[in-house]
Amino acid sequence: MKIAIGHFQFKINSKQELTPDEHIKTEVTLDKIIVEGGHPLKGQVNISGAKNAALPILISSLLTEGQNTFTNVPNLQDIKSTLTLLKHLGARVETHGHTVRIDCSNLGNHEAPYDLVRKMRASILVLGPLVAKLQKARVSLPGGCAIGARPINLHLKGLKHLGAAIELKHGYVEASAPNLRGDEIYLDTPTVTGTENLMMAAVMAQGQTILRNAAREPEIMALADVLNQMGAHISGAGTSVIKIKGVKSLHPVSTRIIPDRIETGTFMVAAAMTQGDIEILNCEPGHLSGLINRLRLTGADVTINGNIIRVKGHDLINSVDIKTMPYPGFPTDMQAQFMTLMSVANGLSLISERIFENRFMHVSELKRMGADIRVCGRSAVVQGVPNLSAAPVMASDLRASASLILAGLVAKGKTEVNRIYHLDRGYEAIEDKFRKLGAAIKRVA
Ligand code: EPZ
Repeated sequence: MKIAIGHFQFKINSKQELTPDEHIKTEVTLDKIIVEGGHPLKGQVNISGAKNAALPILISSLLTEGQNTFTNVPNLQDIKSTLTLLKHLGARVETHGHTVRIDCSNLGNHEAPYDLVRKMRASILVLGPLVAKLQKARVSLPGGCAIGARPINLHLKGLKHLGAAIELKHGYVEASAPNLRGDEIYLDTPTVTGTENLMMAAVMAQGQTILRNAAREPEIMALADVLNQMGAHISGAGTSVIKIKGVKSLHPVSTRIIPDRIETGTFMVAAAMTQGDIEILNCEPGHLSGLINRLRLTGADVTINGNIIRVKGHDLINSVDIKTMPYPGFPTDMQAQFMTLMSVANGLSLISERIFENRFMHVSELKRMGADIRVCGRSAVVQGVPNLSAAPVMASDLRASASLILAGLVAKGKTEVNRIYHLDRGYEAIEDKFRKLGAAIKRVA
């Protein structure tokens, strides 16, 4: 019998069967990935459903009564955490491969406890739907993470505009609203989950809600599309002004999750780094214009054919500057991966991280592999080097983990990436996908 407590996994011989909930506090293990550099990637890879679309869409089922069916749901730790939280709230959940069925007809609980929220910050997305559906919610404050403080002040400001009473007590947000009323809400920054939370809070509010300076990410459009399938009246998603006309109720749907643009981008960079030639299938090129533009400037051949992107890398990689911006700018979730590409480019590049205050955790690990990077505040100057060298490295957050795998694909020797539970939060079977493309990569416990 294996049990995991904290970040450690123990094997025990116990006569008494332990129920999973009793002991499996955190399903993280000390697995690591070993990757040997020098193998150009060739072939085809299928993209999974988008984590950052699936999370709000699965949570939107809280607004309905009856069975929802979601297909192309990625098999990720964050999805498991979301479904555990929904079950805790009283939802009936069934998972069959990449299909998830959720019925929220009998929600018996309006509280998202610290023990669940601390494992996944995006749990805060239950706040809006719970207030809309149950007129109350008690959700643990998500706290910060490796990449930044991650405040939720704009989520709370918007809920207050809609008429919710908000109190912060003992590390929890306590929200109540006998009935929500539409209002005009200006978001000081185009927060992605803030926009999603407020869209879900407003769909059954009395009257119209207008979100100004709303986030424009494809995941916002995907959520609005699903909410409209459920019977909501949302217009303007994908622009910075979203209008929501409140309706009486929403009904369950059967719908498919959009492809993951960040997983797509990660494989595009991998092809460019390894002088490979890969076809990325079942993706949505239209969601990646910011990255495609920059990648072409590095000298990679990027060709688009419907929902297939082909990327051919060349041995000379041009240095290119990037600034991360809200969509449709260059995505912050691709900054670490692009920095790894620049670390073996021919020249100097400037990388400015405009979204999060501490998203350079991968720099120290890349430098251990021989990268030449100097950080000054939210900017990093990268001097390309001819080669990286393999080393044991430590993942710190989801996208930093991916950047270390990419570095290992080109570093001389065998790189050992530790703490890959970060990776498992957002990439489905990434080592299998890389191995099918010719990488020398394996996971070891
Ligand atoms: C979403 O996080 C994504 N997560 C992140 O992806 C992504 O990096 C981020 O958007 C930016 O694109 C999910 O969708 C689950 P924000 P979110 O609110 O919504 C400030 C990944 O790797 N802000 O758009 O938490 C905030 O500090 C993850 O998949 C406030 O000031 O990000 C940040 O500087 C990492 N007050 C900026 O806005 C608020 O109330 C953007 O944050 C909310 C945000």
